[in-house]
This record gives sequence, structure tokens and C-alpha cells, in this order.
Amino acid sequence: MTSKHIEAVVFDLDGVITDTAHYHYLAWKQLADELGIPFDEDFNENLKGVSRVESLTLILANGNQSDAYTDSEIEDLASQKNEYYKQLIQQLTPEDILPGMKELIEEIRSESIPVGLASVSKNAQTVLHALEIEHLFDYCADVAKIKQSKPDPEIFLTVCEALEADPAQSIGVEDAKVGVQSIQGSGMYAVGVGSYLEQADLMVNETTELSWTQIKQAFLHKQ
Ligand code: BG6
Ligand code: MG
Repeated sequence: MTSKHIEAVVFDLDGVITDTAHYHYLAWKQLADELGIPFDEDFNENLKGVSRVESLTLILANGNQSDAYTDSEIEDLASQKNEYYKQLIQQLTPEDILPGMKELIEEIRSESIPVGLASVSKNAQTVLHALEIEHLFDYCADVAKIKQSKPDPEIFLTVCEALEADPAQSIGVEDAKVGVQSIQGSGMYAVGVGSYLEQADLMVNETTELSWTQIKQAFLHKQ
């Protein structure tokens, strides 16, 4: 018998729990300006959910500079961006949790549903610490052990496995196109927050529109 119930909810971090997606944008913008490569918010959409070095590869290609740097220079450029980013996240406090997100996670936890984190950011623990919400996650993906980037489903599958949850009975929340693809590839139900996420199973524009009651209803009534 396959009764529908929810076994886990797995969140992305940057752009879902806090607006660090904007800080990633600012840090890349600073580096791109220095390299003389055009960079704007539209192009940045392609980088959401994408790892640091892969993002840099896309930026260099956009500036026709794919062959301009050695591997070691590329590593230095990626570290430089990370320095800009770390500077920006120094100012993060619990006030920077996006509206309603802490309450949403607490409500899920109050129903004894495990909560996980599927972020590809190497700064994820620093961000969670600054927001003072580490204790709200039963398991956070260890990005050092993840071999395939989003849109590959590996990261969401790994978190479900650690939470002993069946992906088909679990929900993922993302702000990136590749993130929604990763969730759906794992067989989970995808909730998208933001723009350009029409392929999500449920989509809202802002975190204030996320209601646990509504998400549950949508999941339980899906075809
Ligand atoms: C993702 C962000 O969460 O983490 C991307 O959406 C970012 O923009 C990626 O590139 C990697 O982050 P970090 O902190 O390891 O450079
Ligand atoms: Mg994100």
C-alpha cells in the first residue's frame, strides 16, 4: 500500500533560507568587472546553484576568456571571488533569515518530519552559524563528498538517504533552475521560490508565500 505521507523536507540554502544569492552575485560582479567581463543579474541566473569553479568557467566563457588562464590562475580567481563573498557574509545575522523561513522549518519539525540541507556551498556551515539555525537541520550535505553538481540528483538523494527518507515521499525547496531539476531527478516533489522556476511542482515568488499547510496539501494531492 502506498499511503502518501511526508518523510523529509530538504532545503537549499543560498536564496531560499537567506538572500546570500545576492552576495554571490555581488562577489562575482566584482571579479567580472576586474576581468573586463560583462556581468549582470540576468547572466547571474545561470550561476544559481552552480559550484564556484563551474560558475567561473561560465563567466570566463561569457567573456570569451575560456583559454586566457591556467588551471592554477583559475583557482586563484575562484579564491579571490570567495574572499569577496566571505567579506560580504561577515555581516550576516539571524535578522537575515528570509521572512517566514525559520517559522516554516520549525513548523515542519514540530510534526517530527526530518529537515535536511542540500547546499553545494563550501560556506554553508558558516552561513548557518551566522544565522544561528544549525540546530534546525537533522542532516546537512557534506559538499566534499558530493561528486556530481546540481542538476544531478546526487545531493538531494544523499540527504534523503541520510535522513532515511524515501525521495518519493519527500519535498525539496529551491531557488535555482538546476536545483529544481536536481530535486525532480531524485523523485522528490519540487517547491520553487523565485522566478524562472515554472517546471517546479509548486512555485511561489517569495518566501512569505510559503505556507506549510499549502505545501502539504499540494504534495498530498499530487497526481
Ligand atoms: C550555491 C550558490 O548555493 O553555492 C552558488 O547558489 C554558489 O551561487 C555555490 O556558486 C558555491 O558556493 P561557494 O560558497 O562554495 O562558493
Ligand atoms: Mg540557491
